[in-house]
This record gives sequence, C-alpha cells and structure tokens, in this order.
Amino acid sequence: MATAIAINAADFAQNVRVVWSQKPQTEAMVVWDGDEILDGSVLLYDTVPRVSGHRDYAFRASVTGMGLYQEGPAKKPKDAEDDWAPPAPSTGFFYHHAPIKNLTPDTVYYLAVQTADGIGREYHFKSAPKDGQTFKLIYGGDSRTHVDVARQINEQISQMVESDPSIAGLLHGGDYAVTTRRDLWKQWLEAYNLTTTEDGKLLPIIPVIGNHDVPGNSPIFRQAYGYPGGLKDYYSCRLTPSIAIICLNTEISAEGDQRIFLQKALTQLKTDQVKWQIAAFHKPVYPGVKKPSAGRVSWVPLFEEYNIDLVLESDGHCIKRTVPIRGDIEADDGIVYLGEGGYGAPQRNPKLDRWYLQGDNAFAGKGDHVMILEFAPDIIHYSAMLNTGEIIDSASFKARR
Ligand SMILES: [Fe+2]
Repeated sequence: MATAIAINAADFAQNVRVVWSQKPQTEAMVVWDGDEILDGSVLLYDTVPRVSGHRDYAFRASVTGMGLYQEGPAKKPKDAEDDWAPPAPSTGFFYHHAPIKNLTPDTVYYLAVQTADGIGREYHFKSAPKDGQTFKLIYGGDSRTHVDVARQINEQISQMVESDPSIAGLLHGGDYAVTTRRDLWKQWLEAYNLTTTEDGKLLPIIPVIGNHDVPGNSPIFRQAYGYPGGLKDYYSCRLTPSIAIICLNTEISAEGDQRIFLQKALTQLKTDQVKWQIAAFHKPVYPGVKKPSAGRVSWVPLFEEYNIDLVLESDGHCIKRTVPIRGDIEADDGIVYLGEGGYGAPQRNPKLDRWYLQGDNAFAGKGDHVMILEFAPDIIHYSAMLNTGEIIDSASFKARR
C-alpha cells in the first residue's frame, strides 16, 4: 500500500520544501514546484502521520501565490564567441506557496500536497526548537556553478539529518545558482531536495540573498522561498526566544532603510534580552578574498555597539574564521566573522596576509564545505566540515549575556 502511494505521488509536487523566516517556532512557508501550475493545489498537514486510509489531515493551508518563475538574463560565458546570443527562455517551471501558522515549537508536522490529481507523498518537518534546547544549524553559502558538488554535499547533509535528530535547519548565505535562469534554479532546488531523508524528513532552509540571485531584477529568489524578506530581502529570524539571526541584503544599499531596520531589530533584541544575536549576509565585511562590502562602514559599528555574538558571511569561496574583532583590531570581547561559502562554488585561496586571518584565534583555508553551529544553552560549538566529512576547523563561542 505504501509503495502505491509513493509511486502515485512522485510526479506532481516537486522539490517540496520548508522555508523559515521571521518566526520558525510558529510559522513556516511550504513551497513546491511543478512543470505547470498544479490546479487545485492545497497543503494538507497534521501532527500525526496520515499515510494510510483516507489520509484525513486535520489542517489545510491555501496556496497564497503561484506562477511561472520569472527569470533574468542568461550570463554570457567567459569563453563565448563574438556572435554569442542568449539562449531562448528555459522551459516551464512553476512555484506554489502555502504559508502555515500557529505551529507549536519542537513539534513534528506531517504534510502532503493535494492537487486535482490526488494527494502526494507525505513529508514531515519539525518546527523550530523549544527555548533552551540544544540543537544544530548547518550554515552553507555559494552553491552555484558546481551543482554536482552541491548535490553531493546535500546527500551528505541528508545522512547527517537521518542520524542526528538535533539538526534543526540550514541557513544558506546566498548565491544559489550562477544566475537567475529558471533552468539553473531548477537544478539547485532539485539538488536541495536531496537533503530530504528517505523517510521524507525535510530540512527547513533560512535563505539569505546573494549577488547572483538578483540579475535582471528577477524575483526568482523570492518566488523560490516565498518572499522571506518581502520586497527588501532582509528580515530578522527569531529562531527561538533566545536566538536571533538578522538576515541582511548586501545587494541593495547598506544605508537608509536597511540600516534603520538593522538598528530597530538590534534594539528589539536588546529589549527582549535575546541571548544569542547573530547577523548573516552574503558579501563579507571582513573578507578572506575580496574587498570589504559596504556593511563594514554601515553595519559593523552597530554590531559592536549592540555587542552581537557572531557574523556569518559568504561570497569569497573559501573557509574563514576571523579573530574576534572590535574597533578594527583583535580584541578578546570582539566579534568573530565566519564563513565565505563552499557549497559548490569554485574555491579560491584566502589572502593570508590580512591581519584578521592570522594567529591562533583565526583560520583561513579552502575546500568544498559547510559549517555546523551547535547551540547549547551557554556556548556555540562551531565546526567547518569538508565534503569528505573531515572537520577542518572548530571553535567555541561563549555567551556574552
Ligand atoms: Fe557572491
């Protein structure tokens, strides 16, 4: 019977995924794709599995948005001939958004997409952890270009999720695909689908926007993830009452509205006495390879004033952990800048002569990798894991508050 359901369900709703943005303890955006608009789409969910019998799920969520992914221009290859012309628009690829609310933290939800053709495969995910619970978050960025590497890492992650129930979700630091073409995003979303375990456990994703996700003013990032940051692509994610990740957008001005948003968000975290305060964005302010992004001037003074704990960066394509930094020098009470992205993007050599990458309190290297952050009540254990499984760097960060 179970086999019949699996075969029946395989075809229509593709790449079923859970996206977390502002309130992952109580809300989630469920997104799926199709080769066409899936008529009659509705999301069914429940706190108990409904794989057999009438599949009478207790809850239904309507589709609030669906359509053809709007793509940007094709990127001219570096070795293109003079008469290069962009390819014709890639084939049909459609998104469907179903937000769900009023979830209970740390609870397993079983879900299935129903369309005019029937009810599809049942998946499940767990809402964000209860306060004070120890859990892990995977951090990866820059999955573009080498999709085969992204696939392999996602298979590795799937095995980790299967064997370690404390893995709650994945934060992606941006640059999902080389450009905003439907066919390239389809490849990435299919690759991410490989994180889903054999028994249908979904790994929620917290998406940050990168420079490769915006060409042609394409809304493909928003469509793929259900508008996690509205039309500005930045937001504050309160993962638990004690842990906040402010996801910023390095592809628009770091000043103006975004700086005001950041200051307000940090003020709110201070008022709420949020224990762990983290910022995540694509282009680094203490880069391992390139020049600092505008946030170095616009955001770092706020990070230091509000005494945040950790910053997660991508875009450089290397592995980096800076010394703790405050006032542009190494300081015991400084902020560590971690990341730079190795989820498929070709790796570069970090610039080892940069002062913040030197000494016993820093690390710089390269290799296809993701990072693992384990949140225990008073300490974050961090490690950088190569796609071979080897841990190449690790450190711990003690709570400031
Ligand atoms: Fe980038």
